[in-house]
Amino acid sequence: MSELSNTARAMVAKGKGILAADESSPTIKKRFDSIQVESTEENRRAYRELLFTADGIDDYISGVILYDETIRQSTAAGKPFPEVLASRGILPGIKVDAGAKNLAGHPGEKVTEGLDGLRDRIAEYRTLGAKFAKWRAVITIGDGIPSDTCLHANAHALARYAALCVEGGLVPIVEPEVLMDGPHDIDRCDEVTERALRLVFAALYDHRVPLDEMILKPNMVISGTECSTQASVSEVAEATLHCFRRGVPAAVPGIVFLSGGQSDEIATAHLNEMNRMGGGPWELSFSYGRALQAAPLKAWGGSADHVAAAQKALLHRSRCNGAARDGSYDESMENAA
Ligand code: 13P
Repeated sequence: MSELSNTARAMVAKGKGILAADESSPTIKKRFDSIQVESTEENRRAYRELLFTADGIDDYISGVILYDETIRQSTAAGKPFPEVLASRGILPGIKVDAGAKNLAGHPGEKVTEGLDGLRDRIAEYRTLGAKFAKWRAVITIGDGIPSDTCLHANAHALARYAALCVEGGLVPIVEPEVLMDGPHDIDRCDEVTERALRLVFAALYDHRVPLDEMILKPNMVISGTECSTQASVSEVAEATLHCFRRGVPAAVPGIVFLSGGQSDEIATAHLNEMNRMGGGPWELSFSYGRALQAAPLKAWGGSADHVAAAQKALLHRSRCNGAARDGSYDESMENAA
């Protein structure tokens, strides 16, 4: 088996998933605003140190996605973050896209930028210790959108990114995110997610990306946030599995879901239910940002006195999601915390 294929499998090892800690500077500022903490370089460093050094998370976390600033930062004691993670058996990854920008001629739609110079950046990230990368495309559901133009443009960019990663020795996480914002129902999310996945896999094939050397990071098939009828946990699990069986080739080693604004406990319950139902050819795991970090962020609140409480909160969510990897999560785990 190739090195990349081994890494891809390690990213979706049994009982484990990925911590997305790759918030860009504008996004981490929004998160810090919510706890009234100033987004200085030192505060961002201290917060990421707390996450990466939390006791016990290596039992449940296979990899961490870092941001450009973060992969170059170190602990207060001077140990670079990629080394901290690697010494715990956690794979360091890196967000390499340059963000979703307005798609010209297509109001309300976005295309992700960042292909220019990507080959050289991948080479540098490798020297900094990265083993995998992430590129996020954003698809919005609304009146008359997504357009096929938007879906094609994003699929093309994802495939070019993934091909460059494989060439340069990083496992690409391919992330086409259909946003959950809006009044649409779960059937509409299902239809758009399937179309997005089919176009992404067609583009990956055209660009000769080996599917066993990548990981897919999609949204779940879920009701829009403002939809009047919200699908239940079992309906979401069933619809998501059904959609992915149609659209995701069996050669892909793993699917790691994003949380996308779902509450911590619902994101865990959805993953748990899918693994309880089972029947897919791929590992079903998590690559949560908000659903892993909301609790520790709040517990920390910017105070060095609360680091231990924040680390405990991260360990708790990691343990719950680790249990959801084989369908053994139960709500009683929440009360036991
Ligand atoms: P959320 O789980 O907060 O959606 O973040 C995951 C991620 O990395 C989005 O790109």
